Amino acid sequence: MEKINAVITGVGGYVPDYVLTNEELSRMVDTTDEWIMTRIGVKERRILNEEGLGTSYMARKAAKQLVQRTGTNPDEIDAVVVCTTTPDYHFPSTASILCDKLGLKNAFAFDLQAACCGFLYGLDVVASLIASGRHKKVILVGADKMSSMVDYSERATCPIFGDGAAAVMVEATTEDYGIMDSILRTDGKGLPFLHMKAGGSVCTPSYFTVDHKMHYIYQEGRTVFKYAVSNMSEITATIAEKNGLNKDNIDWVIPHQANMRIIDAVASRLEVPMEKIMVNIQRYGNTSAGTLPLCLWDYEKQLKKGDNLIFTAFGAGFTYGAVYVKWGYDGSIK
Ligand code: UT7
Repeated sequence: MEKINAVITGVGGYVPDYVLTNEELSRMVDTTDEWIMTRIGVKERRILNEEGLGTSYMARKAAKQLVQRTGTNPDEIDAVVVCTTTPDYHFPSTASILCDKLGLKNAFAFDLQAACCGFLYGLDVVASLIASGRHKKVILVGADKMSSMVDYSERATCPIFGDGAAAVMVEATTEDYGIMDSILRTDGKGLPFLHMKAGGSVCTPSYFTVDHKMHYIYQEGRTVFKYAVSNMSEITATIAEKNGLNKDNIDWVIPHQANMRIIDAVASRLEVPMEKIMVNIQRYGNTSAGTLPLCLWDYEKQLKKGDNLIFTAFGAGFTYGAVYVKWGYDGSIK
């Protein structure tokens, strides 16, 4: 029997209209554009500030663009996976809301929570769904409304994050393209350094938790930074070596967009020049599960069939890993 590969056949994306600049942030907290640009590399980020809109709104916009661009008949979609840490509700899943908004009749849908590594894990999970032979067309979304859990009086955290969503279509093929390999890891020792203190089953919401600002992102930035640099650099070098990839035949590296200094470190470890590294952190900041597909959305025009892509990410957990993709089409499809 021929091997079934899972190939990305299209990209759709969405970022909200509202632009939160470093100038505006520096009127909210004690910071400067210079500090944020030197220490993080974010110039501005998008914020979904309309009342009553959550992650599924952005996911829907991205997925609708994807379905339209790929000319997909919604009845042919077998599954929808939404990678997010900021679901519309604890339950039901954001993916089930998306299914309804897209009018899908023959799909099953679920959320995948792996923090900033969600989309990376999602690529592997969807590749397995397709390799099983039971599913042929799957929508994979990375979407987060990070502004819903950022404390805008905390200067070390608020400049980093933004809101956004992007989606890819993943389809079965017998051609030698697609999601070729992945190395994924989870190190549960990361909990104390990056988490939300309340709102889960350990510490349920109360006046106390609200008064003590326990529903925001808690991050010990310096520690997370160190783990991110070493784990992402190591794992990208390992997947490259395992697949015979090096600075000459890697066409693109797509790193999680959390900090420009982390991106620089990954690039220099691989010895890949910056022209081959997808970067849009200046405009969107860290959209968590949204960063990797938003990079694809921005760079799609420049991609060619057969290009070797390495995705890598790091997030709360800690979750991290790298995925090797052989790109399946030329340029922008629409
Ligand atoms: O995506 C999930 C994974 N997350 C990450 O990958 C994030 C990893 N961590 C980071 O990106 C960085 O650690 C941060 C951007 C969060 C912080 O940058 P840093 O260079 O590690 O700063 P720091 O926390 O060590 O703080 C250095 C100084 C401190 O002042 P003192 O104590 O040296 O006087 C902070 O109070 O910078 C100060 N500081 C700021 N100053 C101006 C912290 N935030 C700000 C700010 N503006 N916004």
